Amino acid sequence: MRILVVGGAGYIGSHTVRRLTQVGHDVWVFDNLSVGHIAAVPAGRLIEGDLADSGALLKALTENSIDAVMHFAAFTSVPESVAEPAKYYRNNVIGAINLLDAMREAGVGKIVFSSTAAVYGVPDHIPVPEDSPPRPINPYGFTKLAIEHALADYARAYNLGFAVLRYFNACGASSDSSIGEDHSPETHLIPIILQVALGQREHVAVFGTDYPTADGTCVRDYIHVEDLAEAHLRVLARIEPGKGLTYNVATGVGFSVRQVIETARRVTNHPIPVVERPRRAGDPPVLVASSQSIQRDLGWTPRYPGIEAIVQSAWRWHSTHPRGYGDRS
Ligand code: UFG
Repeated sequence: MRILVVGGAGYIGSHTVRRLTQVGHDVWVFDNLSVGHIAAVPAGRLIEGDLADSGALLKALTENSIDAVMHFAAFTSVPESVAEPAKYYRNNVIGAINLLDAMREAGVGKIVFSSTAAVYGVPDHIPVPEDSPPRPINPYGFTKLAIEHALADYARAYNLGFAVLRYFNACGASSDSSIGEDHSPETHLIPIILQVALGQREHVAVFGTDYPTADGTCVRDYIHVEDLAEAHLRVLARIEPGKGLTYNVATGVGFSVRQVIETARRVTNHPIPVVERPRRAGDPPVLVASSQSIQRDLGWTPRYPGIEAIVQSAWRWHSTHPRGYGDRS
C-alpha cells in the first residue's frame, strides 16, 4: 500500500514508518519538522510541509497515489495545552480537518488516527475499557476527542474508513537503537530519568507523593513504541469504508513513578537522586488500560509488557545518543 505518514519524523511516527517499510509498504512522510527530526526519516522519503497548507497536503496525496494515511502530527503536552489552547486547537483540530478534507478531495479513504489516554480524563474503572465514557480534563484531550468525533461523522457522511488508536504512555526506542525519543524540552518521565543517569540533570522531580496509590506516586501504563508501531500496521489492514475501529493500545499493567525510577537505577547502575515536588496539574492518579479488544480482534500483543525491558530499550538509545538526533548530524 502507498501510505502517507503525517508526522512521520516524530517519535511514534518514525517507528511506525520503519515497521511499515519493513513489511513492504511504500511509505512517504509529510512533516514540517517543527518537532520531528530529518534523521529519523528514511532517505528520500520526506515531503516537508505543514498541515495548515491544504495545497501541499493535496499534492502529497495525489502525486504519490496514496491509498491510506496515518496521522501522528499533533502537539502532545498536557500542561502546554492548558497554557496555549489556541496552538492546540489550531494544529490538532484545524490541521487534522485540513488533512481529512484533502483526503476527500484526493479520494483517499483510509486513515489511522493517533489518539490518547487523555480522552478518558479521570476514568471510573481501571483498567480502562474502550467503552469508558470519554471525559477529557484538558485541552489536549479535547482536541483529540474532537477529531475522534469528526472521523465518525466523516465515515457516516463521506464513507471514510478509520481507526483510532488511544495510546497510553509511549516509551522505549527501536531495537537496533538507531531511532528513539528526542523532545526539546523533554517532559516525559523515562527520558528525564535517563538524562539524570547521563549526568545531564542533577535529579528527577517526583510530581506528587500523596496520590491514593501503593507508594503515593502516579501509576501509568508504559507501552513500547515498537508495540505501538505494530498496532498501526495491523489495524490498517482491518479498515473498511464507512466504518471505524477504536482501540486502546496499552499493556494492562501499571508502574508507579517510584517503580520506574527504581528500575532505571538497576538498569543504569546510577543512583538517580530524587526530589519530591507537589502534584503536577492535570495528572490522573492511575491510568492503566485494557487492551483486550485489540488483542482479540487483531492478534496484537505487547512484546514489551514489563518496565525493565522498556527502560533497557530507552537506555540503549539515550546512552548511545546522549544529545538525541544531535549526535547523528
Ligand atoms: N513525572 C514526574 N517527574 C517528571 C516527569 C513526569 O514525576 O519529571 C510523572 C508525571 O507526573 C506522571 C508520570 O511521571 O505521573 C508520567 O508522566 P509523563 O509526562 O511521562 O507522561 P503523562 O502520563 O503525563 O503523559 C502521557 C502522554 C500524554 C497524554 C497523557 C494522558 O505523554 O500525551 O499521558 O494523561 F496526554
